[in-house]
Amino acid sequence: MKVLVTGGAGFIGNNFIRYWLNKYPEDKITNLDKLTYAGHLSSTKDFEGNPNYQFIKGDICDAGMVNEAMEGVELVVHFAAESHVDRSIEGPQVFIQSNVVGTQVLLDAAIKHKVKRFHHVSTDEVFGALKLEDKEKFNEKTIYNPRSPYAASKAASDHLVRAYFTTYDLPITITNCSNNVGPYQDPEKFFSRSITNLIDNQKVYVYGDGLYVRDWLYVLDHCRAIDMVIKKGKVGETYLIGGLTEDVPNIEVAKKMARLLGKDESFIELGKDRVGHDRRYAVDWTKINKELGWEPELGFDEVLQKTIEWYQKNEWWWRPLKEEAEALYARTGQK
Ligand code: NAD
Ligand code: DAU
Repeated sequence: MKVLVTGGAGFIGNNFIRYWLNKYPEDKITNLDKLTYAGHLSSTKDFEGNPNYQFIKGDICDAGMVNEAMEGVELVVHFAAESHVDRSIEGPQVFIQSNVVGTQVLLDAAIKHKVKRFHHVSTDEVFGALKLEDKEKFNEKTIYNPRSPYAASKAASDHLVRAYFTTYDLPITITNCSNNVGPYQDPEKFFSRSITNLIDNQKVYVYGDGLYVRDWLYVLDHCRAIDMVIKKGKVGETYLIGGLTEDVPNIEVAKKMARLLGKDESFIELGKDRVGHDRRYAVDWTKINKELGWEPELGFDEVLQKTIEWYQKNEWWWRPLKEEAEALYARTGQK
């Protein structure tokens, strides 16, 4: 089968391609990626020579290029997006272009080329924020209430994907996942930024009061869930994916990281908050568990340990990216 992966030089995309090439070695994968600040060919080094893998540098908003890449494709797995909330606050325009217009260009091409499945990778951020005291979690029936330009652009893309199913019978599936962590995450995000700061004997900057909560998941658990939805999920359906069963506030995550890296709490600093910062995300993943048998393999402490070990061993990968990542925070004052 010929598979088109968009955004495969980004964090989740490169982990997904590696996973898929190992699991389905007979499939041919084309990776279409614009190589923005978040796309790195260093992340695809270990499989770039695989004869069943091809890289195309290109923009998903470019209909000509997208149509060429879609030739003979049966499965599209759509990761490409601007993905960082802090950047969306600084400049929303590119988020609308890539995440909304880019998705629409791909959907049109998918119809034209009669793809058998268009799988859209989305986020739990489309649902907005839960309160700390809430008992409930996001589920497939939760009303969309995006609160950042990033979340709003992903919500729009989800609506478009569903509209193409209803209007044009395009066989789609959607997954909305919580916060991924693991190998090859650009050091701009909380986990990768904080771990690499600590390795460099720098402080972890925790936004606001530090009591914000995210639902952390190991990236390969996410890849496995996408695989199950593609192979066994029902066309037209949405599945939520998440990891934690108990809340862990960001300040506690930072403390655990510091301890594991042999640092005391003087390495943790509460700092400037994110504008419109969503208080809490938590995902109820009952549907994918009951219908497809998926559950995360790794608990939070294993996720943390494995991720720290990867960044300790792979300085060659993150070191060249660190300066640009910290330049963002010098601009936003979140340091
Ligand atoms: P990332 O920012 O690490 O990577 C995004 C990739 O898309 C990069 O390689 C970039 O070059 C590429 N890209 C961006 N705009 C493009 C365009 N116009 N044309 C072609 N390529 C383009 O993102 P990620 O963390 O790997 O997230 C991948 C997807 O998963 C996104 O759609 C994101 O919304 C979603 N998601 C991410 C998380 C998470 O925790 N990281 C959780 C749930 C869902
Ligand atoms: O929930 C899924 C989403 O998770 C994905 O859709 C996004 O693409 C992904 O970037 C992520 O969004 P977040 O905004 O939750 O991730 P980030 O790593 O930027 O921040 C995680 C939490 O940590 C959030 O509460 C903000 C806080 N934070 C972040 C940074 C970078 C800090 O306290 N300090 C920091 O230095």
